[in-house]
Amino acid sequence: MGSVRWAFRCGSWTPSRSDWLFAARCVQREEKDRIGQFVFAKDAKSAMAGRLLLRKFVCERMGIPWSEIKLERTPRGKPYLAAPLRINSDSVRFWSFNLSHQGDFAVLAAELGMQVGVDVMKITMPGSSSVPEFFRIMTRQFTEYEWSIIQSPSSEDQQLAAFYRHWALKESFIKAIGSGLGFNLQRVEFHLSSEPLTQGQVLRQTKMHLDEEEEEDWMFEESLLDADHHIAVALGPADKPGCTPPSLPPPTTFTLLSFSELIASASPLTEEDPSYWESFQMKAEAPQRQRDTRTSV
Ligand SMILES: CC(C)(COP(=O)(O)OP(=O)(O)OC[C@H]1O[C@@H](n2cnc3c(N)ncnc32)[C@H](O)[C@@H]1OP(=O)(O)O)[C@@H](O)C(=O)NCCC(=O)NCCS
Repeated sequence: MGSVRWAFRCGSWTPSRSDWLFAARCVQREEKDRIGQFVFAKDAKSAMAGRLLLRKFVCERMGIPWSEIKLERTPRGKPYLAAPLRINSDSVRFWSFNLSHQGDFAVLAAELGMQVGVDVMKITMPGSSSVPEFFRIMTRQFTEYEWSIIQSPSSEDQQLAAFYRHWALKESFIKAIGSGLGFNLQRVEFHLSSEPLTQGQVLRQTKMHLDEEEEEDWMFEESLLDADHHIAVALGPADKPGCTPPSLPPPTTFTLLSFSELIASASPLTEEDPSYWESFQMKAEAPQRQRDTRTSV
């Protein structure tokens, strides 16, 4: 199978001491340290779930033993498999994968023979400003045409849903090409499918224009994880020499994993560190404002 779509609901994950300490042992030391530095438990949990998703994918789908996996990041932050280097099977070399965590979920998308980027966005009310003021601050992130679509519904809820849908699409593309913050977002413009986006279904009809030309080679899969979470998966031509474009299987929805499934193939890389649990326990779940109003950012 050439497509993997996994999600883990980290928002409602309340790890026990043994779960948290085991998870910490199963990620690379520098990632464990990075996760330990988050002020809020919510951020630590989503970053931990992200690392476990990546390693589970590399282990189970690329067939590399957990203890041999060495993930690194490009200078702009995109994770990639740096070792083992002895990989010679095409089915291993031609996988591309990406991760996103926001709102209540961490998600992973991987594709064989195509470049992939994924973004999950929770539809949230702006915390400290009105919707029009929030949109004004974001003016430069979207083109005039995109704003006309985002602002066309009469209700603010629907406008926000359209805003986050476009946001997820843009981010998925930026993440597929790995460019991070340096990309001028006005260069890409999305033309949404006229079909409604509903739960349990994946849309592939949305088109992207790059520098005002429709990009035939890129495809976008859009879905809703639940009523509040938009996901976009960008699929583009592989950036690896020798890789022929696959005949794409029908789009698949995201599979929700339990914690046991997330760690099913995991094996410890480091010794248990009880102080890691003590410091995790001391963290507040999220900033006060997010805890007070569930749907505000
Ligand atoms: C860092 C960035 C790649 C994504 O950030 P984000 O949307 O806050 O975060 P997400 O949860 O979707 O993704 C984070 C994960 O993406 C991966 N990632 C980091 N840098 C990446 C890059 N350059 N390319 C692809 N993936 C990247 C990492 O796995 C990261 O998780 P980890 O650090 O826990 O391993 C970057 O695109 C960014 O900050 N963009 C904001 C730009 C903007 O203004 N967008 C508005 C769109 S309208």
